[in-house]
Amino acid sequence: MSEHLTIVDHPLVQHKLTLMRQEGTPTAGFRQLLREISQLLAYEVTRELEMTTKTITTPMQDMDAPVLAGKKLALISILRAGNGLLDGVLELIPSARVGFVGLYRDEETLQPVQYYFKVPEAMEDRLVIAVDPMLATGNSSVAAIDLLKKSGAKNIRFLCLLASPEGVARMKEAHPDVPIITASLDEKLNDKGYIVPGLGDAGDRMFGTK
Ligand code: URA
Repeated sequence: MSEHLTIVDHPLVQHKLTLMRQEGTPTAGFRQLLREISQLLAYEVTRELEMTTKTITTPMQDMDAPVLAGKKLALISILRAGNGLLDGVLELIPSARVGFVGLYRDEETLQPVQYYFKVPEAMEDRLVIAVDPMLATGNSSVAAIDLLKKSGAKNIRFLCLLASPEGVARMKEAHPDVPIITASLDEKLNDKGYIVPGLGDAGDRMFGTK
């Protein structure tokens, strides 16, 4: 993947995203739409996966058939909102390995602090797809990618639903080698670090908390 930022402008993705953005969309509908969109985004983020062939036997004859090459990929959910994207992607790639990164924001320093980190073995040999619906300030995304690189990951992609120009710039500066795939590049961040027009707090909307 050569582009640093890919916006998936498929009509189904854009239509579902509009439904998700609307404040009247209930929790169950929001979750269902997120699941559907994440499958479509997963299709895009895996478009250039490396392939090899293996010899199989159909009822008619032998053939060299295409299969994915290398180790199974690793999906990394950045807690907690990442879990909403993870579910849909896993449905499309059920054999993927899964890891979790938990970060919270220290209210004094405003810096992300790690509270959980568990990833599959042999990260250096896998395509690693980090998922988090909102690339807002980019602080937690950059910190999560730092941790993934420390664990050995070399081939990382970042999958999100919405991105802000500020978050994309921050990621490009810190991790220019990590392509970002998103459904929309929104206008800006507000003074509380929320994406506008955005969709509000993704975690609250998908889990029904407030
Ligand atoms: N996290 C969210 O859930 N929403 C935003 O707009 C920004 C960060």
